[in-house]
Amino acid sequence: MTYDFDEIIDRTNTDSFKWDKYKDRDIIPLWVADMDFKSAPPIINALENVAKSGVYGYWHTPDELIEVVIKRLENRHHWKIQKEWIVWLPGMVPGLTLSCLVVGNDGDEVMTTVPVYGPFMRAPLATRKNLVKVPLQLVNNRWTFDFDAIRAAITPRTKVFMLCNPYNPAGTVFTKEELQTLSDICIEHNIVICADEIHCDLILDETKKHISIATLNKKIENQSITLLSPSKTFNIAGLGCSFAVIPNDEIRSKFAAIRSIIQPEVSAFAYQAALAAYRDSEEWHQQLLVYLRKNHDFILQEMNTFKGFKMQPLEATYLAWIDTRESEIENVAKIIEDAGVAISEGGMSFDGKGFIRLNFGTQMRRLEAAIWRMRKVLF
Ligand SMILES: Cc1ncc(COP(=O)(O)O)c(C=O)c1O
Repeated sequence: MTYDFDEIIDRTNTDSFKWDKYKDRDIIPLWVADMDFKSAPPIINALENVAKSGVYGYWHTPDELIEVVIKRLENRHHWKIQKEWIVWLPGMVPGLTLSCLVVGNDGDEVMTTVPVYGPFMRAPLATRKNLVKVPLQLVNNRWTFDFDAIRAAITPRTKVFMLCNPYNPAGTVFTKEELQTLSDICIEHNIVICADEIHCDLILDETKKHISIATLNKKIENQSITLLSPSKTFNIAGLGCSFAVIPNDEIRSKFAAIRSIIQPEVSAFAYQAALAAYRDSEEWHQQLLVYLRKNHDFILQEMNTFKGFKMQPLEATYLAWIDTRESEIENVAKIIEDAGVAISEGGMSFDGKGFIRLNFGTQMRRLEAAIWRMRKVLF
C-alpha cells in the first residue's frame, strides 16, 4: 500500500500545540517536534477499537507489546533484554527526570553536551543536581563529542551522563567508536549513562546505523538507562507511551518505585497505538523515511542558499539545525516569524545561541511555501 504523505491535514483550531500557538495568524509552524502526517492506518484502527470499547479504566502492559519490544530490540539493536528490565512510562521527559533523580545525591553532577533538547538541562536542576554542560564540536561537517572537554569536566561528583542518540538538535548518529570512547570514560568514572534514543528509527543517512550504547559491553549495560518510544517515529507523541530499559536491578527498582507514585499509568490508547506502530506499521515507517529524506535534501539545499546560513546534512531526525551566526541578523527567529514561518530559536530552547531549528516533518507543499516566505526577508 502507498501512503499519501502529501495529503494536507488542516490542524488549525484542533488544540494542536504546534498549530494553535499561532492561532488566528497566518503562520506555517515548523517548530515543536511533531509531524503533520496522518498516523499509519493500523494505529488509527487500534485507537478506534479502544474508543469503541467505552470503558477506560486502568490497564497493564499488553503481553504482546512486551514481546514485540523484546523482539524489536533483538532484531534492530542486537540487544537481548529481559522482560523485567522494562519500565513503562507516559513520556520520555519523565524518564529523563527520573534518571537524574534516582542516581547520586543532592548536589551531585549530571553532565550533558550542548546544544541539546531543553529537558536534558532542566531535568538535573529539577532533581537538585548540578548541571555540567560540555559543548559539542563540529568536525568534518558533523557535530560530535569533544572527549578532551568531557574528560576535563568530570569530577568525583559526576554521576550521570545524559546522552541523546541520535542527537536532537544536530542530527548526529554516533558511531561505534564514539560510543565506545564515551562508554570507557563513563565506566572509568562510574558514571551512569542515560541514553535517550527516541529518534533511533528516524535514520536519514542510509550509510549510518543506530547503536544502543548499552549493547557495547556488559559493564556499560549495567550502568545504563535507555529510553525509547515509538512516539516520534510514528507521530503519536501526544498519546504518551515510552519505556526505559534498565538492566541494573538496584537502579531499576528505585526508578520503578518512584515512577509508580509520581506518574500516571500508561493509557490503553497509548499501549494499543504503540503495539500497532511497532507490530503493524513498518511499511508506513519505510515510506515516511523516503519522504523525510526528500524533505531533508530540499531544506539542506535551500538553507545553504541564504546569506550567512549554514546547515550540515543530518544523519537522523526531521529537525534541521542551522547556524545563522554569519548572517549578522540579531533576531532571526523573529524576522522569520514576521514573514509567516515559525521555527525554534536555538538559544532559548537548546543552549545554541545563533542557531535555529526547523522541523521538516510536514508536507513538501508547506515547506515550499515556508521557503518562499523566508525568501522575502532573507537573501
Ligand atoms: C530527544 C528527545 N527526547 C524526548 C522528547 C520528548 O518526549 P516525550 O514527549 O515523550 O516526553 C523529544 C521531543 O522532541 C526529544 O527530541
